Amino acid sequence: MKALVLAGGAGTRLRPITHTSPKQLVPVANKPVLFYGLEALAEAGVREVGVIVGDGGGEIRAAVGNGSRFGLDVTYIPQHAPLGLAHAVLIARDFLGADDFVMYLGDNFVVGGVTEIVERFRADRPAAQILLTKVDDPTAFGVAELGPDGGVLRLEEKPSRPKSDLALVGVYLFTPAVHEAVRSIKPSRRGELEITHALQWLIDQGCDVRSTTISGYWKDTGNVLDMLEVNRSVLDTLEPGVAGKVDAASEIVGRVRVEEGAEVCGSRIVGPAVIGAGTVITGSYIGPFTSIADNCRIDDSEVAFSIVLQNARIDGVRRIEASLIGRSATVAPAPRTPSAHRLVLGDHSTVHLAS
Ligand code: G1P
Repeated sequence: MKALVLAGGAGTRLRPITHTSPKQLVPVANKPVLFYGLEALAEAGVREVGVIVGDGGGEIRAAVGNGSRFGLDVTYIPQHAPLGLAHAVLIARDFLGADDFVMYLGDNFVVGGVTEIVERFRADRPAAQILLTKVDDPTAFGVAELGPDGGVLRLEEKPSRPKSDLALVGVYLFTPAVHEAVRSIKPSRRGELEITHALQWLIDQGCDVRSTTISGYWKDTGNVLDMLEVNRSVLDTLEPGVAGKVDAASEIVGRVRVEEGAEVCGSRIVGPAVIGAGTVITGSYIGPFTSIADNCRIDDSEVAFSIVLQNARIDGVRRIEASLIGRSATVAPAPRTPSAHRLVLGDHSTVHLAS
C-alpha cells in the first residue's frame, strides 16, 4: 500500500497567508497541517509516499525532506499546473505501479488519523473507498448521495444545490482500478480533472465504491474561524511542558507548552497554548486557545484564541482575538496619531477594527 499526498494547489481561500507559503504548511498548534497527514500515514503502516508538488514545491521539499523523520520514504512528483486531483493520479502512474494506495490531500486534517480505515480497506479491497463527513456548507466540497442501504449512488463536485450535507473528505483509498477512470474522464468546468468524476465513473461501471462517514474533520474553506477551531481542538491534546525560561513574575495556567529557547517575562499564559522556540513574551496575557510560532516578540499585549506565525511582532495592543497573524507581521499602535488606524496590508488581507 502506497500513499499519494497532494501538496500543490493555489490556496486562494487562505490568502494572504498563502501568497508567501503553501497552504499545506499553515501551522496547527505550531505544526504544519501537512505533517499531521504524513504522521497519520506512517501510523497506518504506509512507507512509500509520492508527494505531488506545484509552485510551492521548494518549501514543501525543504520542510518534508526525504520523509525519514516521519518514518516514510518520500518521492516528489511535480505537477506543472493545478490541473486537478485526478490529474495528480495520472502523473503518478509510474510511482503507483500496480499497488493499492491512499490519496491524502495535504490541506486536510482528520482527527484520529486513518489507521482504521486503511486496515478495513486492506481487508475488503473494494475498487474505491471514500470518507464522508457532515458539513455546514456542502457547496464548497464534493457531495455524496447515498442510497437507503448506505451505498454511494452519486457524487457531485461543488454542486450549487447539494443533494445532501455529506462532503467528500480529502482521503480516498483506491485499487489500481482508478487508473482507467482517471484516463476516461474530461476536465470539469473549472478546467480540472476531478477525482469526484473518476469515482462517479467507477460507480457507473458497476465497481464497488464504499463510503464511511466520520466526524472530526477540518479543511479550510476560506473561513479563518474554522482554522482557529482546529487549532483549538489540537491544543486541547497538547503535551504540556516548559522547556524555555519563565521568570518568577510570570504565571502559567493549564495546558501550556513553552518551547526551548522561548522566554516569558512578567506575563500570564493561559492554556491551552503553545509558545514557539525563540519567542519572547513580556508584560503580556496570552491564551487561551492560542499558538505563537517561533521567534515572535510580544510585548505589553493581550492575544487570545489566535494563531501567530513566525517572526511576528505585537507591541502594546489590547486586545487581539480570533486572529491569524502572518509571518514577520507587525501589530502596534499608530505612532503619535493614537486615534487613527495606520495600515500596511498585503493583497487579500482582512482587518476587523474594534472602533
Ligand atoms: C477537493 C475535492 C472535493 C473535496 C475536497 C476535500 O476540493 O475536489 O471533492 O470535498 O477536496 O478537501 P478542492 O480542494 O479542490 O476545492
